[in-house]
Amino acid sequence: MSLLNTPFDPAREAALVTGAGNGIGRAIAQALVGEGVRTVFADIREDMVRAAIAASPRPELAVPWVGDLAQREACDALLAAARSAVGQVTHFVHSAAPARREADHVFAVSDETWRQMHAVNLDAGFHLSRELARQLIAAGAPGSFLLLTSLHAGTPRNLPHYSTAKAAMAMLVKELAKSFGRFNIRVNALVPGAIAAGGFVADPALAKHIPLGRLGRSEDLAPMALAVLSNRISAYVTGAAIVVDGGLSLTNWFEPPTFEDI
Ligand SMILES: NC(=O)c1ccc[n+]([C@@H]2O[C@H](COP(=O)([O-])OP(=O)(O)OC[C@H]3O[C@@H](n4cnc5c(N)ncnc54)[C@H](O)[C@@H]3O)[C@@H](O)[C@H]2O)c1
Repeated sequence: MSLLNTPFDPAREAALVTGAGNGIGRAIAQALVGEGVRTVFADIREDMVRAAIAASPRPELAVPWVGDLAQREACDALLAAARSAVGQVTHFVHSAAPARREADHVFAVSDETWRQMHAVNLDAGFHLSRELARQLIAAGAPGSFLLLTSLHAGTPRNLPHYSTAKAAMAMLVKELAKSFGRFNIRVNALVPGAIAAGGFVADPALAKHIPLGRLGRSEDLAPMALAVLSNRISAYVTGAAIVVDGGLSLTNWFEPPTFEDI
């Protein structure tokens, strides 16, 4: 049996991906069904969920769910819907996040935008993780959770509602990993760099600061997400922050060197 050819056990494993309507969540959800894993595609945008499933390698394994994860009742409805559609969720990916608008700087951001950003990223991430962990512990089953954080968990983004939500999520991953480890539930963070997905409109000039020479794509995140989610590949990985950024985080005020000879 080849390890990398069979990262999941579709007979026992099922997934739930939030933010599956667009960008990174969509790419991860599509990759999971491509591996034969029954997967709930959860998002606030019904049209985007339908399109993401239609473009999936195996749409018959995908289950749509539409709702606003800023609402606690919607999170509970998602848990119930996932359980009845795919049984026990063993693999959870939290990629949902409201739009990041440059106009929402420190003096402009409204209370509602601040609250929504924290509610979707942090509050829903905590509640869904804790409830799924309760279910897994009761079933005596292993699990693997992946929360999308950001380089802006550690450096400002000029969007304080966003960076503070991501910083809190980065610590949440560590808290959950430490508490759930004894139950064989792993929790990790996936840290994208500048990914030209729906949530980030990138200036192409940014590419010159990225050692690998280009902006990222959602598809750059999906293979690493699957590797970290897989209990076969990453059985001993928990509490980690896996950076997939083309080297962007190596950037500082010095330009990369140019060489006359090598
Ligand atoms: N794109 C990047 O460069 C980048 C960089 C660092 C971190 N991230 C993080 O990765 C994740 C995915 O980013 P992306 O660029 O693919 O985002 P995106 O905006 O393209 O996708 C986010 C999805 O979340 C959904 N969503 C928004 N509010 C919701 C709600 N209330 N309930 C349910 N679903 C909701 C949206 O409809 C959308 O489909 C986010 O958590 C983001 O913060 C992205």
